Amino acid sequence: MNIKTKILDANKENDILEAAAMIQKGQIIAVPTETVYGLAADARNINAVEKIFTVKNRPSNHPLIVHIASFEKISEWAKDIPPAAAIIAKYFWPGPITLLLKKSDSVNDVVTGGLKTIAIRVPQNEMFLKILHLLNTGVAAPSANPHKRISPTTSQHVMSGLSGKIDAVLDGGPCNIGVESTILDLTKSKISILRHGPITKKMIENVLQVPIYSPSSHLEKVPGNMRAHYQPYTTTSLKSLGEIEKQLSLIKNQEKLFGIIHYSDLQYTHKNIKAIKLSKNKTQYGKLIYNALHELDKMNADQILVEAPPNTGEWDDILDRLSKASVVKI
Ligand code: TXA
Ligand code: MG
Repeated sequence: MNIKTKILDANKENDILEAAAMIQKGQIIAVPTETVYGLAADARNINAVEKIFTVKNRPSNHPLIVHIASFEKISEWAKDIPPAAAIIAKYFWPGPITLLLKKSDSVNDVVTGGLKTIAIRVPQNEMFLKILHLLNTGVAAPSANPHKRISPTTSQHVMSGLSGKIDAVLDGGPCNIGVESTILDLTKSKISILRHGPITKKMIENVLQVPIYSPSSHLEKVPGNMRAHYQPYTTTSLKSLGEIEKQLSLIKNQEKLFGIIHYSDLQYTHKNIKAIKLSKNKTQYGKLIYNALHELDKMNADQILVEAPPNTGEWDDILDRLSKASVVKI
């Protein structure tokens, strides 16, 4: 399949209208969200949703997130909605948290990968929200990357993975947050985090006033939540700064090329090392981590070494993504 992928500008009103019209027609286009770019299709149009799976090479049992314009629309997609949903929506929507609920009978199984549950969120990105308000439907959108690869945080990342396979990309500049949404399971009496994200366990506990369960290690309980994911093509390892420096001190005369992502001061420089320093501030770090991985992956290095993030709850999402990026090999 090779089609011309149109580049639309999210700062132009006409291009936003065109993006909405394309989705309405059953085309699939990448759109900016505050987390990562999503690959959007009308969630009620089964042919369009099926195209998402084909283009991403995503197994058909990996469920998609449905994006809606506002909390008021939720009952079109979910049923038996518990009170906690309204509280989360009040505090965090529009925003980077996805709720797992029981699926309404009218939602086609293709969207939910055959599951009886559905993942829903109201995104914060203004351009995407405009599109959702223009459409009289929800938009199914997984991250706009080939299956298992690094999520895109710019339209260029989208194009490098999916150019020629999708109808358009709506360029809204770099994503503000840069890490995928938190997924919160509200289908059981114990509320739990299925995927760590920008809204942390502590933030959720503060508003719900109940303990929230979260996986200390990886749970492969739903299809689509895999041990190896978010992977660069280059072998990637997560190490302490000390371990990285030790490894680099041994390379002296070898011709190997190393990509390094760090946030502490790195003592070492060498012509065969390309180092990207990110902020110690989690928000700033999160915004740029995927971009750094995309950049280093382009250099065809022998290895990418990433300094392990701090082991505090605030960094749970980053730790989760980097651990999956560095599992050998897929
Ligand atoms: O920030 C985000 O959430 C981005 C933007 C585009 O909204 N989307 C995103 O979608 O990360 P995706 O498909 O790359 O990851 C969504 C994950 C799936 O891998 C799956 O594990 C989980 O959400 N999920 C979706 N529906 C589910 C369901 N019914 N039950 C359990 N997990 C589900
Ligand atoms: Mg994804």
